[in-house]
Amino acid sequence: MADLTCTTPFFLYPSLVILLFFYSISHHNRFLSSVVDDDPSCHLYSSSSSPQAIFSSFRIFPFRSSSSCIITSNNNLTSEVAVVEEVDEAAERMEEGLAMGRAAIRKAGEENLRRRSRDRRNNSDLGYVSSGSVYLNAFTFHQSHKEMEKRFKIWTYREGEAPLFHKGPLNNIYAIEGQFMDEIENGNSRFTAASPEEATVFYIPVGIVNIIRFVYRPYTSYARDRLQNIVKDYISLISNRYPYWNRSLGADHFFLSCHDWAPDVSAVDPQLYKHFIRALCNANASEGFTPMRDVSLPEINIPFSQLGVVHTGEPPQNRKLLAFFAGGSHGEVRKILFEHWKEKDKDVLVYEYLPKTKNYTKMMDRAKFCLCPSGWEVASPRIVESLYSGCVPVIVADSYVLPFSDVLNWKTFSVHIPVSKIPEIKKILEAISKEEYLKLQRGVLEVRKHFVVNRPSKPYDMLHMIMHSIWLRRLNVRIPLSQ
Ligand SMILES: *[C@@H]1O[C@H](CO)[C@@H](O)[C@H](O)[C@H]1NC(C)=O
Ligand SMILES: *[C@@H]1O[C@H](CO)[C@@H](O)[C@H](O)[C@H]1NC(C)=O
Ligand SMILES: *[C@@H]1O[C@H](CO)[C@@H](O)[C@H](O)[C@H]1NC(C)=O
Ligand SMILES: *[C@@H]1O[C@H](CO)[C@@H](O)[C@H](O)[C@H]1NC(C)=O
Ligand SMILES: *[C@@H]1O[C@H](CO)[C@@H](O)[C@H](O)[C@H]1NC(C)=O
Repeated sequence: MADLTCTTPFFLYPSLVILLFFYSISHHNRFLSSVVDDDPSCHLYSSSSSPQAIFSSFRIFPFRSSSSCIITSNNNLTSEVAVVEEVDEAAERMEEGLAMGRAAIRKAGEENLRRRSRDRRNNSDLGYVSSGSVYLNAFTFHQSHKEMEKRFKIWTYREGEAPLFHKGPLNNIYAIEGQFMDEIENGNSRFTAASPEEATVFYIPVGIVNIIRFVYRPYTSYARDRLQNIVKDYISLISNRYPYWNRSLGADHFFLSCHDWAPDVSAVDPQLYKHFIRALCNANASEGFTPMRDVSLPEINIPFSQLGVVHTGEPPQNRKLLAFFAGGSHGEVRKILFEHWKEKDKDVLVYEYLPKTKNYTKMMDRAKFCLCPSGWEVASPRIVESLYSGCVPVIVADSYVLPFSDVLNWKTFSVHIPVSKIPEIKKILEAISKEEYLKLQRGVLEVRKHFVVNRPSKPYDMLHMIMHSIWLRRLNVRIPLSQ
C-alpha cells in the first residue's frame, strides 16, 4: 500500500495569529482566539509550553506538502493519486473561501475601531446583536456569524452504529451532546455537509454518554481505557479509510460531549489528539483544556418534553433576596460552600436540600444573584438556569473556561468568585452598587438569547453559538496546499 499521506517529512506550518479581534477575558484566564493571517510564508516553529503562550502563540499546524509528494511516494498508483488530487482541489477551494471569510471578519473589526472613535453608540446595521455591550466586539462577532452561515459545513462520518455512535441524550444535564448530534445528523441543518469534499470540519460522532451508559454499567470499574479505546479505534478506522484525518492530523476534526469523563478520551494518546478539537462541558484549564483549540460547551439541563423555558422572573426592584443556591454536595467546591453558607445566612440562602415549601425556579426568579459553584466538574447547569430566570450568575469556580468567551464579555453579565473567596461571598455581592447590579441584570436579559436551545437551531441561539465556537477554531488553522 502506498503511503499517500506524506507524513514524513511534514513541515510545521504556523498560522500567524495577528488579529486580536476576539479577545477574551474569562476572569482568571485570559485568552484570545483570533483569526489567522493568510500570509503563506512558512516557518518552522516549535511551541512554547508556558501557559502565557496562549495569548500570543502561533497556532502550529502540520504542513502537508502538495500532491507532488504523493506522486513521488509511488508513481504507480495513478488512480489513487487522482482521487487525492481531487480532494486537494476541493480543499483548496475551501481554503480560499475561508481566507475570504477571515478578510471580511478582519474588515468588520477594523470598521468597528473606526466607528468606535467616531460614534460609540452607532451600531445600527448590526441587526440581531444590536446593543453590543455584552460582546467583546459586536461587529466582528456579527460578521463572523454571517460568514459561518455562508461557509461552515460539517461532515459527520457514517461509520459506527447507534447507540454508541450517532446518538446522545436529548434530556437531562448532558442533553447538549444529543441535541447537537441530532441537529447535525437529522439532515435538516444548513450546516450539514452533503459530501466530505464540501466539509469545513469533520465530526467524530461518538456518543460518550451512551458509551459510558452501555459499556460501563453496571459499574465495576471507572478505568477510562474502554472509552479511550472505542474513540481511538474509531479514529483509526476513519483515518485508514479516508484521507481527511491525515491531511490535517485531526485539526479540522472534532468531537463533542458534555460528560465529565469526556476530556479523558484524549489522555491516552496526546500525540494523536494534539490538534483535534474537543468540545467539552468540563472545560477545566487545569486539566489540559486548551482554549485556542478546544470549545467550552454550556451545560444545560433539558427537561423532558420541552427545551427549557426563558421566563421573565421578577423585575430587579422586586428581587429582595441577595443570593440563592440549592444543590447536592458534589465535589470539593460545594463542600467548602456548605461549610460557610449552608442554612447560615438570611441573605445568602444556600441549601443542600431545598425545603418542600420552596420552589426552586421561583427562588431564582426572586434572587439578585444565583450561585453557580462547580460540582463534580467545573461547569454547572445553573449558569443557564440563572440566565433564564433573569438572575445574575455568580460563577464560583477555578480554572473554568467559560462558554463562548471568545465573543461574549462575561464581566458584563456575571460575577466571578474564586473558590478561595467563598467566605467573602456576601461581602463581595453587597459591595456591588445598585447601578452596577442593574447593568449586570440588563446584560443577563440581553445575552440569554445565546443560551436558548431551538430545534431546529436558529441564528445566534445556543447551537449556533456552539457551531460558531467550532468555526472559530477551524478559522484559526489553515490547511496548506502547496509549498
Ligand atoms: C512502479 O514503480 C516502480 C518504482 O517505484 C518501478 O520500478 C516500476 O516499474 C513501476 N511499475 C509500473 C507498472 O509502472
Ligand atoms: C449610523 O451608521 C449608519 C451606517 O453606518 C449611518 O447610515 C447612520 O447615519 C449613522 N447614524 C448616526 C446617528 O451617526
Ligand atoms: C493515515 O496515516 C496512518 C498512520 O500513519 C496510516 O496507517 C493510514 O493508512 C493513513 N491513511 C490513509 C488513508 O492513507
Ligand atoms: C415552581 O413554580 C413554577 C412557576 O414559577 C411552576 O411552573 C412550577 O410548576 C413550580 N414547581 C413546583 C415543584 O411547584
Ligand atoms: C480542575 O482541575 C484541577 C486539576 O486537575 C482539579 O484539581 C480540580 O478539582 C478540577 N476542578 C473541578 C471542579 O473538577
